[in-house]
Formats: sequence, C-alpha cells, structure tokens
Amino acid sequence: MPSTVISLRRCKHLFIEPRRVDRFSLDDVLAGRAGLVSSSCWMALAPHLPEGVEVSAEALQVLGGFDADTWTETALPLSSPQLELLGKGLLFSDCGKGNHIRSDERIRELGWWGPAAMLHWQARWEDRNSVAAIDSVGIQTAAGLRQRFGAPPPATVAPEGPMIMLPREPEDEVDRRLQMRCTCRNFDTSKPLSMAVFSRLMGRCFAATGSYRLDEESIFLKRNAPSAGGLHATESYLIIQNVEGVLPGLYHYHPMEHALTLIPGALTPESGAAARFVAGQFWFANAHVMIVLAPRFDRLHWKYRGHAKAYRAVTLDVGHLSQLLLGCATEMGLGAFVTAAINEKEIEQTLGFDPMAQSPLAICGFGWRAEVMETTEFDPAQAVWESVG
Ligand SMILES: Cc1cc2nc3c(=O)[nH]c(=O)nc-3n(C[C@H](O)[C@H](O)[C@H](O)COP(=O)(O)O)c2cc1C
Repeated sequence: MPSTVISLRRCKHLFIEPRRVDRFSLDDVLAGRAGLVSSSCWMALAPHLPEGVEVSAEALQVLGGFDADTWTETALPLSSPQLELLGKGLLFSDCGKGNHIRSDERIRELGWWGPAAMLHWQARWEDRNSVAAIDSVGIQTAAGLRQRFGAPPPATVAPEGPMIMLPREPEDEVDRRLQMRCTCRNFDTSKPLSMAVFSRLMGRCFAATGSYRLDEESIFLKRNAPSAGGLHATESYLIIQNVEGVLPGLYHYHPMEHALTLIPGALTPESGAAARFVAGQFWFANAHVMIVLAPRFDRLHWKYRGHAKAYRAVTLDVGHLSQLLLGCATEMGLGAFVTAAINEKEIEQTLGFDPMAQSPLAICGFGWRAEVMETTEFDPAQAVWESVG
C-alpha cells in the first residue's frame, strides 16, 4: 500500500533577507514606461546553496513549521508551499538524494556555527578585479578616500585624564629591524630567490618545530606561530614563481616533512592565475613566492563544534602566520605582503576544495624588493626606501 506520509526536515543553516528586485513588466512597457518594476521579496540565503533563492511569503511561513534536526512526518500529497520549498532545496525529504541535501549533510558534519557558515559562504569572491573597482570610485589614495568619505575617525582615542608618560627607550637593532617592515608592492623579478633563503623562511614560518602524538591518528603540531586550540588547521599552498631550482607552479607545503608537493597541471605561469588569485593586484602578482593560507574547517571544528568563536580564531591564526612571515622576511632583507582581497572561488576550484571544508582566507607573499618604487608603499619615515635607493 502506498505511504500516506513523508518525513521532511529543513536545511541546517538559513538566513532570510528582504530584498528589492527589479522585474521586467510587459504591462509597464505597454503603458509607455521603462518596463522595470521594483518590488520587494524574501531571499533565502543558505551555505548549502550556490546562491540565494527567492521564496514566497507563504512558503516561508510553512518553512517555520519544520525543524532542522528532526524529521517531521507530513501528510501526502504535499501542499504547494511544501513543494516549492523542496524544489528550492530549503526542505528535504528523508528519501532525497540530490546535490543540495548532500551539501547540507556535509555542512552538518563539518560542525559550522550558522552565522559563520553564512559569512564565509557569502564573502567569497569570483572573478573580482579589486584594482578596477577601487580606481572607478577614486579611492586609491588617502586624499581620494578623504574626498569621498570625509575625514576618518581619529587615528587613536584619548580618554580624559592625565597621561602617564612612558620613557622612550633608545632605539636598538630590534627596533630598527621592525621598522623595516613595509608592505612590499615592488618585487625584483630579475633576481631569483636562492633555495637557501626560500627554505629557511618557509621553515621559520610554516614548518612544525615539534609535535605531540597521542596516537597514530591524533597528532598536534608545534609551530613558531600560535594557533587556536593548538590545531594548526591552516594549510599553505605555494605559487612558486621565481625560486632557484624549483619549477614555477602550485605546490603544497608539508610542515612536518618541510617538503613541497607539486599539484600537477594546476597552474602555469602563462595562465595569469596568480594575478586573478589576488583580484588583479598586479603589484603582488609577480612576487617570487605567493602563499595561499587555507584553513581546514573540519580540523578546526573537530574541537570547536558549532562554536561562535571558531571562525574568528582561525582568522587570527591566518593573521599570525602572515605576521610571522612579514617579520621574518623583513629580518632576512626581503619584502613581503598579505592580502584578503582574493578570488576564493577560483582558488578553491584550482585546488579542488570543498569550500565549506577548506577555503583560502588570505594570500601572503615574499621576494626581493625592486630597486625602484613603481607602486606606492607606505613608508613615511623612508625607513625602507632610503636604504634600497
Ligand atoms: C589583512 C590585511 C589585508 C590587506 N590587504 C591589502 C590589499 O588587498 N592590497 C594591498 O595593496 N595591501 C593590503 N594590505 C596592506 C595594507 O594596505 C598595509 O598594511 C597598510 O597600508 C599599512 O602599510 P604597511 O604594511 O607598509 O605598514 C593588507 C594588510 C592586511 C593586514
């Protein structure tokens, strides 16, 4: 006898946004107007769906009656709002097998906290050129920003009350070294990095300096940068462009072996992928080495399950790794940078990532500084460029 009920459950993470959309209207054209009519609608945004989907107010009401974690027996035949929700991948039946239910199940396994899952999913770029975007609104300089947005909030705050002045200690070698750090936007492509310099810098910033092995499957690394929960969930993928003895290409760096593995065919120098990865920022794209910092969220969430601070913590991890690189590169006389303006989606496709399991948060890079500054660097005290020129 055919069943008279079906079990339904809604997707795990879902955010609803009211949006104004312009729709084509033949009636409007026939009335002699432009043909675009503006109206408001509900958009369902969920990290298991490639993009937002419009959902009717009636279906939204029905969706509220289903739980994300328990299956609800529902009488057949389904109502039209229920069918709409099933068709749009917001509601699932226990016999569903499509892509949407598989990615919803994967996100459940990966232990995301909902708002972080949404933030991560929505903030990823595809095919962006941040240089063109900034140029088009004239905000590439401080003066341009000032003109467009008015004065910024003050450079720091000064609470009322007397200040306890601290002694200014005489500058020492450490101070002078630190002051030589300046985001490098000018690389010397004519001078390759030696293997010794490259290997030393990679070792200092990304290699494991020790490990704790609880059992064969439970290994925790020690590195020169700190990491939330000691998890070191961030992997490094190197775009090597100008290092002696290493063919240009895309490599994974193994922190325990201190070794590179070529990712075959993923990237050729002619493909222009390096520039696309950094959203068209040509001043970074010719660095001797670029490093894609890509956390593994399954490892992060192994400890921090559904945790509100997990995404923040791994973002800080990436910041620590990049700051360590900037500091060590400076100490070795190299230029270095970090950027979050990256086209995550192309990087994920190139590396074959499932974006909710692993995804890049930043790219940093390093190499020899050029002798001439063609792209502006922020060096008001001339600490770097005085010594280069
Ligand atoms: C998280 C982060 C993202 C950044 N993104 C960019 C970027 O997209 N493009 C760029 O040219 N510089 C980028 N920078 C570099 C800053 O512009 C730079 O740190 C700032 O202008 C101060 O200059 P300094 O690093 O030389 O002190 C970034 C820096 C940080 C920390």
